[in-house]
Amino acid sequence: MSDRILIIDFGSQYAQIIARRVRDMEVFCELLPWNASKERLLTDSTKGVILSGGPNSVYSLSAPAIPDFILESGLPILGICYGMQALTHALGGVVSPSDHHEYGQTRIEVLVENKLLAEPEMTVLMSHGDRITQPPPGWQVIARSNNSPVAAMADFANQRFGLQFHPEVHHTPHGVAILKHFVLDICHSHPDWTSESIINDAVSRIQAQVGDGKVLSAVSGGADSSVATALVQRALGDRVECVFIDTGLMRKDEASQVEAIFRPLLGEHLHMVDSSARFLGNLKGVTDPEQKRKIVGETFIREFERVSSQFGDVDFLCQGTIYSDVVESQGIGSKMGHLIKSHHNVGGLPKDVRFKLVEPLRMLFKDEVRHVGEVLGLPHDLVWRQPFPGPGLAVRVLGEVTPKRVRTLQEADSIFSEELSNNDLLTQTETNSGETQGSSQAFAVLLPIKSVGVMGDQRTYAETVCLRAITTNDFMTADWSRLPYELLARVSSRIVNEVEGVNRVVYDITTKPPATIEWE
Ligand code: XMP
Repeated sequence: MSDRILIIDFGSQYAQIIARRVRDMEVFCELLPWNASKERLLTDSTKGVILSGGPNSVYSLSAPAIPDFILESGLPILGICYGMQALTHALGGVVSPSDHHEYGQTRIEVLVENKLLAEPEMTVLMSHGDRITQPPPGWQVIARSNNSPVAAMADFANQRFGLQFHPEVHHTPHGVAILKHFVLDICHSHPDWTSESIINDAVSRIQAQVGDGKVLSAVSGGADSSVATALVQRALGDRVECVFIDTGLMRKDEASQVEAIFRPLLGEHLHMVDSSARFLGNLKGVTDPEQKRKIVGETFIREFERVSSQFGDVDFLCQGTIYSDVVESQGIGSKMGHLIKSHHNVGGLPKDVRFKLVEPLRMLFKDEVRHVGEVLGLPHDLVWRQPFPGPGLAVRVLGEVTPKRVRTLQEADSIFSEELSNNDLLTQTETNSGETQGSSQAFAVLLPIKSVGVMGDQRTYAETVCLRAITTNDFMTADWSRLPYELLARVSSRIVNEVEGVNRVVYDITTKPPATIEWE
């Protein structure tokens, strides 16, 4: 069993980043809310505990606290920001309330040589209100800054540490090294969380769960469902039945690409279902975005039920749920945002199906899923594919979704993708000077607007394609990609020349917020 670092989530917006940093060291970690049960928080393989930051003051009535069994566990502990304040409060030090929020980079001076902070001075990101004015008995101050007399503190005898700043963010340049010292040198965790070990572990878990049963898996053409399917296939061979429902709302040639990848792996156990007539039939005459989303979601569920009823002796259903979905639904880290769009994830399946769930990616972050996919031999372009909305092109063909308009959009979109790909702009990268290039997501939208044009001395009256390309790290906020003018010019010229029914191309230069990434 892999060594484990427990990260206790006190509600910090950075909690998932701490987990990402630990996983990057090839050490397994779990992020759990502070009020999860003892059995979940403390497992035999746990080597150390990180307490995240959080928005509360230790003096507020609803302040989350460190469970006693964690403090009594004898495990090394690292408290970050609120985590440090909670440690101080619990162990008899003094946290001074403050109305003033210190935010920004600052220099700290290390006062005592120690295993955690290897540099004598460093730049760190502070973001806190309350601050510690007296460490608990037995602890000593190991770093200070101008505003924080206790920027870091330690109880060396018990291997416990507190940091007032955030080591997990880029704005703390030595932050990764600090976390590494804690996880590897202080907790002595063994780094064995590699794609190969993840695959071996997943395969034996799937085999143990499914026994000699059969699994039904639905692929959507996206990375998660593809990697999950490849894993169950590796574990169970021909005891996997795989379904691809072609909604008719996929990108150009997507169905045949999925078939080309999975047919050699699954043979006759791959079932390509052409449901495009049903989807397009149900969407006929509908222009309201929310109604379109509901129709696609509903049709998908009905189609899936219809198809899966053929597999009478199958007990298990494979789903590509990934760790961010798990973390976001488990409590303190959950984002109860307002409903802006109903997100029918077409890769996601009806909730009340009769199957037991197999979720081999439940513990993996998106990029871990992608690395696993590469090691399993799936094509690079598939595993690094940009996100695609569940309702597919139904939400990118604005106005009525007709077969003809879907084809028009598919052609325009494929030209845009091809040109971006030829110029390595279909992924987001950072230049040496820290500038973001390329796109996290890029696609075309067909607008329900006709305008007048002129082509070969003839008047045209045709539709408009809008290009959308964005950069983002979390898809909750986004900036528009500063694509090269030459590329935009070539794409525009190719679309109006090669795609029938389009005589105008525009580029969307709106950030999210106030716009969203998709148009519907
Ligand atoms: P918005 O348009 O809300 O999109 O800024 C944010 C991200 O979510 C994707 N998206 C969806 N994904 N089902 C999905 O699985 C959906 O219904 C859906 N709608 C939007 C969108 O492509 C972007 O990456």
